[in-house]
Amino acid sequence: MKIAISGKGGVGKTTIMALLAEEFKKSGKDVMVIDADPSPHMAETLGVEHPEEIRPIAEMTKLLVERSGKTEGSPMYNMNPEVNDLLEKFMLSHNGMKLMVLGAIQNGDQGCACPENNVLRRMLTKLLLTKDQVVLLDMEAGVEHLGRGTIAGIDHLLIVVIPSKSSIRTALKVKKLAEDVRIPQISFVGNLIDDDDDKLFLEKGLGVRPVAFFPNSQAIRKAERQEIPIHTLERAADEAPYVLMQALIK
Ligand SMILES: Nc1ncnc2c1ncn2[C@@H]1O[C@H](COP(=O)(O)OP(=O)(O)OP(=O)(O)O)[C@@H](O)[C@H]1O
Ligand SMILES: [Mg+2]
Repeated sequence: MKIAISGKGGVGKTTIMALLAEEFKKSGKDVMVIDADPSPHMAETLGVEHPEEIRPIAEMTKLLVERSGKTEGSPMYNMNPEVNDLLEKFMLSHNGMKLMVLGAIQNGDQGCACPENNVLRRMLTKLLLTKDQVVLLDMEAGVEHLGRGTIAGIDHLLIVVIPSKSSIRTALKVKKLAEDVRIPQISFVGNLIDDDDDKLFLEKGLGVRPVAFFPNSQAIRKAERQEIPIHTLERAADEAPYVLMQALIK
């Protein structure tokens, strides 16, 4: 199963992905987390000790060009880039899961992370997973990248939304775009939830009830400040990661 996450900036995408990764791992799944945010932050959240040592895929410009085929139709264009060996090279094993960082945009003149997105798209579409494997894709805020096809091959898109009007607006926009690019499953996930009013506000604004509600958690906030890996927190988000996982495997 390949799961991606989207939503407005700072709503908790990385936090929720990290908690979900831990939950899937606990359930016996083989978890691979891909950080596709140009300002990657997943390694810190997962408590990787030297995140600066992770070699982002984006740094391998030559490889990227070879494998993604910058100009489709040219002799360099490779329809079937070997994805598995690439994955192996750039995977970091940490706390019983695998982490891969896509990295920042290299070519400033291009204005978009096209080669990286190409590679990611190919990897995600070619990556044949067994039923015990889960790929979790953490992404940047906003909606533009949805149009770039980064998301191809994704089975389920999670849209994180907090109880505010602007967050709901963004979430609905993301949903529309995700439908346009034909992502098979799309679900909303509520975050920073204080009470039932917050849940109701989201349900009304979205027109559908989010599949899981993550509490506004002091433990999570403190962990971030003190650089405590999120998986070491004891039930920081109550049942939410479990509920979300169940919704995904249903
Ligand atoms: N449920 C929660 N309770 C308390 N704090 C939270 C919760 N979820 C996220 N946070 C805090 O909110 C901040 C933003 O979270 P996070 O980095 O996960 O958001 P993001 O959507 O990935 O942001 P970006 O758009 O920058 O990638 C962090 O400081 C995080 O610790
Ligand atoms: Mg993030």
